[in-house]
Amino acid sequence: MLDLLKFDGAPVVITGAASGIGLSCCELFTDLGAKIVAVDSDPTFGLSQHGTALGLDWPERYYSIDVSQESEVRQLAKEVFSDFGEIASLVNIAGVGSTSSLEKMDLAHWNRIMQTNVTSMFLMVREFLPMMRENTGSVVNMSSTYAFASRSNKAAYSASKGAIVSLTKAAAIEASRKGIRVNAVCPGPVMTPRRVDAGADGVDDLEKAARRTLQGRMALPGEIANLIAFLASRAASYITGSAVIIDGGQLSHIGEVT
Ligand SMILES: NC(=O)c1ccc[n+]([C@@H]2O[C@H](COP(=O)([O-])OP(=O)(O)OC[C@H]3O[C@@H](n4cnc5c(N)ncnc54)[C@H](O)[C@@H]3O)[C@@H](O)[C@H]2O)c1
Repeated sequence: MLDLLKFDGAPVVITGAASGIGLSCCELFTDLGAKIVAVDSDPTFGLSQHGTALGLDWPERYYSIDVSQESEVRQLAKEVFSDFGEIASLVNIAGVGSTSSLEKMDLAHWNRIMQTNVTSMFLMVREFLPMMRENTGSVVNMSSTYAFASRSNKAAYSASKGAIVSLTKAAAIEASRKGIRVNAVCPGPVMTPRRVDAGADGVDDLEKAARRTLQGRMALPGEIANLIAFLASRAASYITGSAVIIDGGQLSHIGEVT
């Protein structure tokens, strides 16, 4: 089993690599022996303290693009294929939050959330599937518990995360012809810099988020990375088309935890 978790120098593409869950994935996959191909819209990451520690200060290991733009994803796939050849795993984490009531939400906001969270995954899967390793390759897409249960002002975010679960299942069918697995992960609240900042600004109530779980706390990014690495690895060889919930029990109950 432990050997199946190792990537033995195989290339793994990770989007949203510069922060939060994506950054934790970069660290864990590196520990598991993968050759990280990091992708993020933040242009400074490759040369940052984290990026340098991960060996991403080589230009061909870090690609700064907007994954919601078709031409940029096409170009990325071409360059990655020419630099690395076959890809072992694709981990699609890049995404953004959204807080707006349906009544006040303008179409531009809705379109931006769908484009960033869902269209990006369609583009990445479409461009990278043809260059993935047959029979052992795998894709992991970032969804959320918001795919299954929502709250006020979360319509766009929930719709985008629900669409990712459906896209994942449909992609798993098509990828199965080449023996490639496709799964989604659905975390509850995770203590990432984005949420810490939102908590400090009073936009996000982190204590309430923690209380909604059975464990009374938010997840650490590394706990989500553990699941992602398992699903991406050969150890998860019989898991495909699944949306795996990792939420400290958040979805297992109705109402407040007493
Ligand atoms: N933090 C949580 O509580 C939580 C819970 C469930 C799911 N998620 C999902 O996990 C993912 C990561 O969340 P996080 O909290 O680590 O966020 P984060 O903001 O810390 O990291 C997201 C990264 O994605 C990058 N990114 C955003 N849009 C991009 C684009 N168009 N092109 C390229 N890169 C882009 C950002 O630059 C950033 O580095 C998101 O998809 C989010 O919806 C987060």
